[in-house]
Amino acid sequence: MDAGLEGKLRGYKRPGPLRRELAVRVEYQTDGLFQVRPSLVQRLTLRVGAGELLDETNVPLRHLLEDCRKLVLHPVPPNGSVDRAGRMSQQCILWPFYAEEVMQVGGRHTVRCLITGGAGFLGSHLTDRLLDAGHEVIVFDNLITGREDNLAHRFGHPGFRFVKQDVTEFIYLPGHLDAVVHFASPASPIDYLRMPIPTLKVGSLGTHKALGLCKAKNARFLLASTSEVYGDPQIHPQPESYWGHVNPVGPRGVYDEAKRFAEAITMAYHRYHGLDTRIVRIFNTYGPRMRPNDGRVVSNLIVQALSGTPLTIYGQGEQTRSFTFVDDLIDGIWRLLMHDDTGPSQASDPSAADASAANPLPSDPNAKDIHQPVNIGNPVEFTVGQLAELVLEFTGSQSEIVYRPLPVDDPKVRQPDITRAQALLGFEPKVPLVQGLQRTIPYFREQVQGTGAAS
Ligand SMILES: NC(=O)c1ccc[n+]([C@@H]2O[C@H](COP(=O)([O-])OP(=O)(O)OC[C@H]3O[C@@H](n4cnc5c(N)ncnc54)[C@H](O)[C@@H]3O)[C@@H](O)[C@H]2O)c1
Repeated sequence: MDAGLEGKLRGYKRPGPLRRELAVRVEYQTDGLFQVRPSLVQRLTLRVGAGELLDETNVPLRHLLEDCRKLVLHPVPPNGSVDRAGRMSQQCILWPFYAEEVMQVGGRHTVRCLITGGAGFLGSHLTDRLLDAGHEVIVFDNLITGREDNLAHRFGHPGFRFVKQDVTEFIYLPGHLDAVVHFASPASPIDYLRMPIPTLKVGSLGTHKALGLCKAKNARFLLASTSEVYGDPQIHPQPESYWGHVNPVGPRGVYDEAKRFAEAITMAYHRYHGLDTRIVRIFNTYGPRMRPNDGRVVSNLIVQALSGTPLTIYGQGEQTRSFTFVDDLIDGIWRLLMHDDTGPSQASDPSAADASAANPLPSDPNAKDIHQPVNIGNPVEFTVGQLAELVLEFTGSQSEIVYRPLPVDDPKVRQPDITRAQALLGFEPKVPLVQGLQRTIPYFREQVQGTGAAS
């Protein structure tokens, strides 16, 4: 940290429970002359000296930042170099202090988080990640597609509680709550085609109930949405600004439209109730704890290969998918959940809400609005045929490949544009498909041998 750095701390808010990274904007120049702009937001003058933040009378500000682990100082370039959408002008690109300064500060707070659908594949991995970081997790799950086994290793943990609960009904939790992560929903085509009404109910009523609980507790809300909101896309790869190509009355509409409604009501709670909300659009994720018979392409092919039955490919196997290993996905969700609210908020400002409606999503990947949807996935694309070949190679299976007709409305291509997640969250998937399959196959081997699930 530059011992001579001085400036104005703008937009300062006392860190809340999830504000572990406090981002502030500092206005300064190399020669020590400050660029001070009039602002309605609260300001504190700061001085950074000897690794300490001081106010203008040299009193340490550390106590104000006690809930923070990291303070990110964003230097603000001279007047006029950033437009309203946050885009930099040529002048700003030349600005010498574009790089941010990072300062480590205290950090002691434990987050208390409710995960709906936490007994499922992804929810159980996020539960692990939160508990391992010393936080507290309560899981509400009615087990329609989840399994207590996924959480068995956490029963008895002092920071963990499981409640068998349908979240489409009234939900209540005593005590404070910092965040609700809404994962509850059948997620594989087999599940939502078998349970169309529960799928629609959990996306609509369940999301409404979870948002209501957040409002009552003033907690942060994160919705697990899906790449399926893009339907059978006409734009490739899919950026968040793409509105999608969904058949609302086709069989898959129950899932796609439930998630689209869930996104809409989440944004409504953000805009009209000022709730701090986030939306993650999850792309095809695989890894240990998937159900062997959940009908998803990765689990299907691995289980068929391990049990020596023919590998089923729908169509000619030329449809593409991008596959995200579960650790990468959880890392992206973690970043989104814990990210400071530094972006513009349209909350409780009806005129801003209208403006936002006219321009629903800034296509600028640098747009900083944390409340707008964020794609999380691995953009490396494979055809389903290529996936089948890899599965055969890594399982050592002699199974043959058989071809069946494509299901109705099956998307032909699917690849996330993750520019926004990269810019906003610093997200980068790290596990390539080859490595991810090698970490997933042993889990399925155990399942197939232990449960005979393939039969
Ligand atoms: N896994 C993926 O590739 C993927 C892709 C896109 C989106 N998602 C989304 O991520 C979330 C988690 O997916 P997953 O793969 O872990 O699925 P999953 O089926 O393993 O987990 C979903 C969990 O929600 C629970 N649930 C369903 N309805 C409920 C209700 N009314 N009340 C309480 N609990 C209920 C289920 O019992 C299950 O434990 C889902 O919302 C899904 O739509 C997943």
